[in-house]
Amino acid sequence: MTSPSTHPNEARDRAMRAAGIDPHRVPEHVAVIMDGNGRWAKRRGEERVFGHAHGVESVRATVEAALESGVRYLTLYAFSTENWNRPKDEVDALMDLLVKTLVQEAMELGSKGVRLRAIGDVASLPAACQAELERVKEGPEGEVHLDLVLALSYSAKWEMVEAIRTMMGEGLKPEDILPSTIDKYLQTADLPDPELMIRTSGEHRISNFMLWQLAYAELHFTSVLWPDFRKEHFFDAIRDFQHRERRFGALPNAKSS
Ligand code: FPP
Repeated sequence: MTSPSTHPNEARDRAMRAAGIDPHRVPEHVAVIMDGNGRWAKRRGEERVFGHAHGVESVRATVEAALESGVRYLTLYAFSTENWNRPKDEVDALMDLLVKTLVQEAMELGSKGVRLRAIGDVASLPAACQAELERVKEGPEGEVHLDLVLALSYSAKWEMVEAIRTMMGEGLKPEDILPSTIDKYLQTADLPDPELMIRTSGEHRISNFMLWQLAYAELHFTSVLWPDFRKEHFFDAIRDFQHRERRFGALPNAKSS
């Protein structure tokens, strides 16, 4: 039997406090725009694909950091609808990398309580990729600690158009449509909105990513290029989040005089 002093959550809370993170105010859902792979590779005189391949190590580190800090949902922007316009070689290499990574990591992820799924136009992905996503979505046998959501062939505008088409197809009337209705028709219907969005590589843009769901998210931009992103950078973002005053459009908290 686990003694109370060794309960995994207690150990995690202690580790987080030691890292300057309040374990009770960790964002439930963190979304990440993984950017800078190409520049990272170019700086080393390599092809862009070299950067993507090294980006997989950063994905691993980010998943570990999310598990350690108690983040419940992690969404990674892995391939946008616009990314289809990149050279065919790069698109093919990215798809191969995705399949290879899913094949290699699925067991390990499952053993850590990670459940994997995709949002986006999955039907537009190569058959091997679709098959692999289908295979891994069963998830772990035991408790789920983290839902890892890969945004693949995803863009917020695509998602909104799909949602509107479905609503119209189902004959919804204008008066039926509330913000909560739209929530239900988006790809993220069963996910809470991200509270924190991280973008790497020094770009300060949202780039067609979860435009509806990020309405009240805190945004954390770092100049670190994605292949260099590690646990400490993720924890930096959480510490930054915990220093923000979240107001959701209301007035600041009245200070006691
Ligand atoms: C943006 O960098 C990154 C991507 C388009 C792909 C992200 C993919 C990975 C990190 C690898 C595989 C992912 C998983 C989930 C296994 P960029 O190429 O736009 O960089 P740049 O802005 O420097 O050109």
